[in-house]
Amino acid sequence: MNHIIITGGAGFIGSNLIKTLFNTRSGIRITCIDNFDPFYSADIKQLNIRDFKSNPDFHFIYSDIATTTPIELNELIEEPVNVIAHIAARAGVRPSIQDPLSYQQSNVIGTQNLLEFARQRGVKQFVFASSSSVYGLNDHLPWKEDEQLLPISPYAMTKQAGEMLGHVYSRLFGIRFLALRLFTVYGPGQRPDLAIHKFIKAILKGEPVTMYGDGSTSRDYTYVDDVVHGIINAMNYDSTSFEIINIGNNHTVSLKELVIAIEEVCSKKAMIEQLPEQQGDLQKTFADISKAKKLLGYNPGMQLKDGLKKFYDWFLQNQEILMNA
Ligand SMILES: NC(=O)c1ccc[n+]([C@@H]2O[C@H](COP(=O)([O-])OP(=O)(O)OC[C@H]3O[C@@H](n4cnc5c(N)ncnc54)[C@H](O)[C@@H]3O)[C@@H](O)[C@H]2O)c1
Repeated sequence: MNHIIITGGAGFIGSNLIKTLFNTRSGIRITCIDNFDPFYSADIKQLNIRDFKSNPDFHFIYSDIATTTPIELNELIEEPVNVIAHIAARAGVRPSIQDPLSYQQSNVIGTQNLLEFARQRGVKQFVFASSSSVYGLNDHLPWKEDEQLLPISPYAMTKQAGEMLGHVYSRLFGIRFLALRLFTVYGPGQRPDLAIHKFIKAILKGEPVTMYGDGSTSRDYTYVDDVVHGIINAMNYDSTSFEIINIGNNHTVSLKELVIAIEEVCSKKAMIEQLPEQQGDLQKTFADISKAKKLLGYNPGMQLKDGLKKFYDWFLQNQEILMNA
């Protein structure tokens, strides 16, 4: 893989992917496509890509994948492309209930545009950031990839649609398509709408922490470096032409336990404000990762406490931006 397109590279996971690729691979060039979607502050996205901007092997295209046609993408990107890591999306379950159309545009039409570009340009490898949310109401935990999908949010449905678009392009045009179902990702750079970021910011500001439900919901928190490792191995995977693979941690943590772990890292008690459970939220997420282990040599190693500490250190280093974003 020499020339890689990474969509959503100014976001949390995409920027961590770029950082690891530049730190561990030589002779690669990365084209990042991102539109600084207003879902959260552009200041945070600028911070995410700050260190790459001066790298001559990093090329940034400011573009909306929902409205940029494959022909326009062809004009913007002249160099042959070896791999596309399609990470860009409107993320977040709750806001998708308020504004489902923008999720369709970015996540479904955007994925369609990228796949069509891949077909026209003969790109052979396409890695797609899907989500554990596609399992939805399925209560047969831990989830395996062949479980029934019962999504309960527009966001989750767009991710399922992306997987199926990939299946079509893989069958019709021989593009190897790997859909990675990511489970609640955390670590330096984590989005400000996600629990760990929100809680730590509130604790540092001395503000109440908003907890939806009674704290019994649980998530399979997965550290971003482990996720990035899975994505990079998927970018190099060359055995079969279509796979869907869980990228989780195979360990669930309740919201209550998470708050206690965060309090320990911050050495400060949280003031909890309990609100009703939110529509679209799942009770529990839990990944069976045996397929990822087998196909990608994936082996998540980060303990929650250590990962939270890394997030906390990143937050403190950048608090001038993050406290006001
Ligand atoms: N963070 C998680 O816990 C998690 C879990 C499951 C799946 N995912 C998926 O992983 C991917 C990355 O998530 P993240 O947490 O890094 O989110 P993020 O919002 O930090 O990153 C997404 C990036 O995509 C860009 N983007 C959005 N719409 C775009 C458009 N129309 N055109 C161009 N760029 C656009 C945004 O500006 C942003 O920089 C997403 O596809 C998300 O659905 C994330």
